[in-house]
Amino acid sequence: MSKVPALLDLIAQMTLAEKVGQLNFVVGDLFITGPTMKPTTSDKFDDQIRNGEITGLFNVYGADYVHRLQEIAMRESRLGIPLLIGADVIHGFKTVFPIPLAEAASWNLELIERTAQIAAKESTAAGIHFNFAPMCDISRDARWGRVAEGAGEDPYLGGLIAQRRVRGFQGDDLSKPDTMAACVKHWAAYGAPEGGRDYQSVDMSEHLFRSTYLPPYLKALEAGAATVMTAFHDFNGVPCTANEWLLKTLLRKELNFDGVVVSDWGSIAEVSAHGAAENEAGAALKSFQAGTDLDMMSEGYLKYLIPAIKEGKIQESVLDESVYRILKLKNDLGLFDDPFRYGNREREKLELKTKDHLSVARQMAQQSFVLLKNEGSMLPLKKSLKVALIGPLADNAPDMNGTWSFFAEPDDPVTIKEGLEEAGLDVLFAQGCELYHSTTKHFPLAKEIAKQSDVVVMVLGESAVMNGEAASRAELGLPDNQLELFREIKELGKPVIVLLSCGRPLVVPELAEEADALMVIWSPGSEAGHAVGDVLVGDVVPSGKLPMTFPNAVGQIPIHYQMKRTGRPYLGNYDEPASERIYLSKYRDTPNEPLFPFGYGLTYTKFELSDLTLSQTCMEPGDSLEVCVNLTNTGLYDGTEVVQLYISDIKASITPVAKALKAFERVTLPSGESCKVKFKLEEKDFQMLNENRKWIVEPGDFEVFVGANVNEGLTARLEWTL
Ligand code: BGC
Repeated sequence: MSKVPALLDLIAQMTLAEKVGQLNFVVGDLFITGPTMKPTTSDKFDDQIRNGEITGLFNVYGADYVHRLQEIAMRESRLGIPLLIGADVIHGFKTVFPIPLAEAASWNLELIERTAQIAAKESTAAGIHFNFAPMCDISRDARWGRVAEGAGEDPYLGGLIAQRRVRGFQGDDLSKPDTMAACVKHWAAYGAPEGGRDYQSVDMSEHLFRSTYLPPYLKALEAGAATVMTAFHDFNGVPCTANEWLLKTLLRKELNFDGVVVSDWGSIAEVSAHGAAENEAGAALKSFQAGTDLDMMSEGYLKYLIPAIKEGKIQESVLDESVYRILKLKNDLGLFDDPFRYGNREREKLELKTKDHLSVARQMAQQSFVLLKNEGSMLPLKKSLKVALIGPLADNAPDMNGTWSFFAEPDDPVTIKEGLEEAGLDVLFAQGCELYHSTTKHFPLAKEIAKQSDVVVMVLGESAVMNGEAASRAELGLPDNQLELFREIKELGKPVIVLLSCGRPLVVPELAEEADALMVIWSPGSEAGHAVGDVLVGDVVPSGKLPMTFPNAVGQIPIHYQMKRTGRPYLGNYDEPASERIYLSKYRDTPNEPLFPFGYGLTYTKFELSDLTLSQTCMEPGDSLEVCVNLTNTGLYDGTEVVQLYISDIKASITPVAKALKAFERVTLPSGESCKVKFKLEEKDFQMLNENRKWIVEPGDFEVFVGANVNEGLTARLEWTL
């Protein structure tokens, strides 16, 4: 593509120092999202802006504030280059939506795009125009706290969501005052760290990477994401920020990405901490040579690129290319036309946390809840019942915001207690215990109110800081004190409904066994209480489905539905004598099966699938297939089912995955009614990545599986001939 002449002219006027300044991106003074020994002060960055030493700031917001910074850049720096203003607007700005994993549980792509759009609208009003989202990292490891920020374990669902989030943030024109640049992160495979420990190494085959981890990033890039962020870890032995294969061979050459590559916070300097460069100067040089354009928080380019150019280690023309990409981003954002187009006092007054935005937050939260158990149809609750509401998350606003919610006020969210009261329930409340401190001093009051009530609703789980970045956990159960409280309440013999507020799959077999009803509500955001109230009294029925497998034991991790068959599969027949069960792929102490599989989720009504038909059972290249199934709502409530279609390749040249999601449909159906759900599959849906890294269809048998989750459904066979 031809370059913008005005930007080339600008580069021609720049000194070397001004050029490296354009590659230097620093945190502001409002809050930090990474380690820093020296908090930045506005005096310092005011001067840096004047001197052209920074390209922009992140973690700053507010129309007036951002306006002041842009004024300095425009009026007091030599070339008047506008600043880039960034932030992590991960699940909303002032209106906080459920965390991304929760949104993924809605399987509602339109709504996901809408929440991203609102996040862009609100945050651009406050001056932010570069969003460090979406996180497109697939993860099959719930120990890794950042699963909260992603879309779960599946490349297909993850890809569609990544695409929608990019569209939601960027709209159709980056220069509009209410759209912002998206950032595909973290390049690449950040979701598979050893031991589930954040920032740890990732070592994986190129086959696994390309078939499973890469697809969501690709979808986001196809959707036109303007930027990519590198990752903290080392990938197959090379830190991602200095990984030439990832950045040049794959991203630039193979995928033709010509946007900005930004480092993660300090990840340029960390190349040296990894042991992959002798010092910070070497780290800066290596990262730059590998293709990282923008230095977030290392100041390595600022310090070391000019000497490297003078010593001939880097050509100035290569520096110019990075500078061009950054200026081009600013130009695409419309900043050269009007540097003050984002950050608008009027909009800030009118467009934050509007009624409309809150109603979308409420709807998204309702649809994100996943009902895992509902014995004896405990839910929905009759309004005549007296409810004992117990638990450290039951009347807790701040933790409802969830991870990455720096812009929201901690007390903003509607608590669950408030929500249940507004829904018309007669509620007695006791906190019962702290989130993690092992004191039992509040137990007696909780037991007392439980005794006085017809039903107990317990809100248990994780605080917002127990998941998210740097929040890996080796144990994934409830903290001991919460479990102890549950046991003591359960002993009273009242029906107990547990609402699990968390940012990841938790390992809760005891709750699954003992609670009468169990529903995951994640971190639901601003409208937490309202949404929970709506669903508990049945004004809205649950419709969420798990985007990530819930393990039965931590030792099963990594666990996901695409696991391969093995040569010695164990088919779960515990009736067989133990002597027959040896030398098979299983655990001695826990089943192979998860606690709840991918795609799982109940609702108040009942759905039945029947009559699965295929338009043909012999396929040839170029053919497409129509799959049709009958869906009936046989229960008492109107409801929504997410009908899921998976394909299994029975035999292939390399071991195929057990099943792969290829399509789904959210279908809303009144009680007693039936409808036909149709899917159209193309040749690409039957493709596999072969040994030569080509996506091809191989001849042979395939199974089409249509179900309410990955394990329960109907199957039909077909054959591909070439
Ligand atoms: C995270 C990024 C984030 C950056 C800036 C880092 O710690 O890994 O995802 O965008 O901080 O806040």
